[in-house]
Amino acid sequence: MITTNSGSDILGRYYTKNEISSFLVGQFDIKSPVRLLDLGAGSGSLSGAAKTRWPDVKVLTVDIDPKVEFPDESANSNSNGSSHEHFVIDALSQDLSSLLNCKSAPIDVAVCNPPFITPKWRNEFSEILEGAGFHDCLPFPMDVDAGLLFLAQNLRLMSDNATLGIILPDSLITAKKYLKFRSVLLNTYAVTKVIQLPRGSFHNTDALASIVILKKIKKYKDFVLVYCLSGDRKLSDPLYIDVDSAAERLDYTFHFHRLQVAGVSSAKRIALQELAVNIRRGSLSSAQIRGVNFPVLHITNIKEESIGQWLDLKSFDSGCLNDDSSIVKAQPGDILISRVGRNLESKIIGVMAGSFPVSDCVYVIRCAPGIRETVLAQIASPEGRAWISAHAYGVAAKQLAKKELLTFPILLD
Ligand SMILES: C[S@@+](CC[C@H](N)C(=O)[O-])C[C@H]1O[C@@H](n2cnc3c(N)ncnc32)[C@H](O)[C@@H]1O
Repeated sequence: MITTNSGSDILGRYYTKNEISSFLVGQFDIKSPVRLLDLGAGSGSLSGAAKTRWPDVKVLTVDIDPKVEFPDESANSNSNGSSHEHFVIDALSQDLSSLLNCKSAPIDVAVCNPPFITPKWRNEFSEILEGAGFHDCLPFPMDVDAGLLFLAQNLRLMSDNATLGIILPDSLITAKKYLKFRSVLLNTYAVTKVIQLPRGSFHNTDALASIVILKKIKKYKDFVLVYCLSGDRKLSDPLYIDVDSAAERLDYTFHFHRLQVAGVSSAKRIALQELAVNIRRGSLSSAQIRGVNFPVLHITNIKEESIGQWLDLKSFDSGCLNDDSSIVKAQPGDILISRVGRNLESKIIGVMAGSFPVSDCVYVIRCAPGIRETVLAQIASPEGRAWISAHAYGVAAKQLAKKELLTFPILLD
């Protein structure tokens, strides 16, 4: 038995409106993908938008409905030489990987708007779910949304490091019975953003859904960026949601209201630079530090377990430097934050005691006594760390630019 979640179409044929498809494809940061997969492609709204963005990409579309037609006639051919191959087959069949030749021609990007249905359970679904790591997170395996099966099938077929942009129905985003699924998803794959879509994003249904963009890499992320797209296609500022809260629910509306109640709505915040805060970068390079005979605080001295704490750092004191104005020094009341490093967002402390030079890998934030506590608490909070992480650049060793740090949003009482 197939049940439909949001309408009466047995195959869940609620096609994506073209402007939503273009929006979804615009969310990928991949520059020139080689092979793109679109499972449950319908008439190719998503893959068509992808082809417009990346004209050279080789497109594979799959749909069980033999009647689907693509606006572009060449799309209906199924020859290997074509830049578009279409397969009329069940996307949830187990041997899809060999049919699509995924091993020798890896898929590096995928788009998907799965059918909004709950298909009758088949044993092969267990294998699909298991292949993506979702096997033991379903309270009712006999009653699983097609969205979850299509997500798992995409993850099985994609190559490592590939990116997927998938539209998931609100049930997978918010329902309690899928909490474990969300937790596994967020802890297993790098979910880069979630964007709640406005009602009316699809033809013939007003179903609620969200776009989820993720990478198939085993990389733990502490935070998820959750957005909302309005009916007039304006994208909200992101909310920075820690993984545990995001597993609870992944929708923008819930977290926006939760944060508003907690008084941390981004609308009420003001940037650090508007608070007459002084930010200086330390002046001594690693090479210089090795040549001096006084202690210098470097990022290795800022321990992650001390994040957000005011520390007694008198052991770095060197009274002999009092007259040297060319060396940037920290003093009690200053906030220190790592400027570079893989986990710079975890290296944020306050100076309770001590006056000492700092390395050029550290920023010294000096602000008025009345707001110091607030500034440190907010930069070191889960949301603050997520903000820092999202505004740092660089793949391995990240860096945080001073001009970015100056825009850090602070909420004052
Ligand atoms: C929500 S529509 C999305 C269509 C298209 N991707 C879009 O965004 O407009 C879902 C599509 O999945 C197809 N479909 C349903 N069950 C399927 C299955 N088991 N295997 C492959 N395609 C399926 C339907 O025919 C339909 O075209």
